[in-house]
Amino acid sequence: MPAGNLIDGRAIAGQIQLEVAQRVAALKSRGIQPGLAFVRVGEDPASKVYVGMKEKACGQLGLFSETQVLAQSTTESELLALLARLNADARVHGILVQAPLPRHIREAVVYATVSPQKDVDGFHPMNVGKLMLGDPSGFLPCTPAGIHELLIRSGVKIEGAEAVILGRGNIVGKPMAAILCQKAKNANATVTICHRETRDIKAHCRRADILVAAMGVPKFVTADMVKPGTTVIDVGVNRVSDPSARTGSRLVGDVDFEAVQPIAGRITPNPGGVGPMTIAMLMQNTVRAAELAATASHI
Ligand code: GUN
Repeated sequence: MPAGNLIDGRAIAGQIQLEVAQRVAALKSRGIQPGLAFVRVGEDPASKVYVGMKEKACGQLGLFSETQVLAQSTTESELLALLARLNADARVHGILVQAPLPRHIREAVVYATVSPQKDVDGFHPMNVGKLMLGDPSGFLPCTPAGIHELLIRSGVKIEGAEAVILGRGNIVGKPMAAILCQKAKNANATVTICHRETRDIKAHCRRADILVAAMGVPKFVTADMVKPGTTVIDVGVNRVSDPSARTGSRLVGDVDFEAVQPIAGRITPNPGGVGPMTIAMLMQNTVRAAELAATASHI
């Protein structure tokens, strides 16, 4: 099996964390500690794990972090009031409200309430709009930004490539498409977004030079969907039952890795591909938010 075609997300994320650590040191020499506030509503087990990993990364890089855990029954206006406090807190440069939120809370209202300058998730309509307009002054969502870095730092040619994205969600699919088709360096791809109503998804996938699987269906991408030499990025984190596992379940991606790896030109392992990059980009966005806040306060 050609193990040499793996895109090592942990190693590339490690490089980015080193770059971020240098910027943290520069800020600290000016008396500034970058700070990130996490908000978690309810007890979703996956959200607990994700926020825990992000808190740990803050600790390793010397960022200040605080986590607000709210009950599942919290009202939307209580959450908005907390966000208003965090927006006004000078120690907090970035705010991350972990999705999914309880059904009685409108996500769009919540993300529009986070200050655009502290929106290190890139979910505020202002930052979404800047991405669509090609204005680089906004914040990019961490997962697609991390995938873009993986492609660039692995030497994958994006210009003119056929990029096929499976999934049209606001967190990955839609912003990924906008990043890859941007009229900019390391972009200019021809992008197709596929979703559950797409006719003949296989035919689209077989055209792809870059295939990003982000639709949340276990092992959806099979060997017959991949052209030899394609770069395959697996964003999926799906819990499936597995009676042989100690916990009775295990995590699998959106790609049938064993079958696809021998055909792919490059492929992300899962875990160890996209996940570490999401966290590294969150750290990078937060440090950038702190740098911008420091510049703004000196004007
Ligand atoms: N849930 C799944 N991915 C993400 C993410 O990137 N940010 C937030 N806030 N919630 C998520």
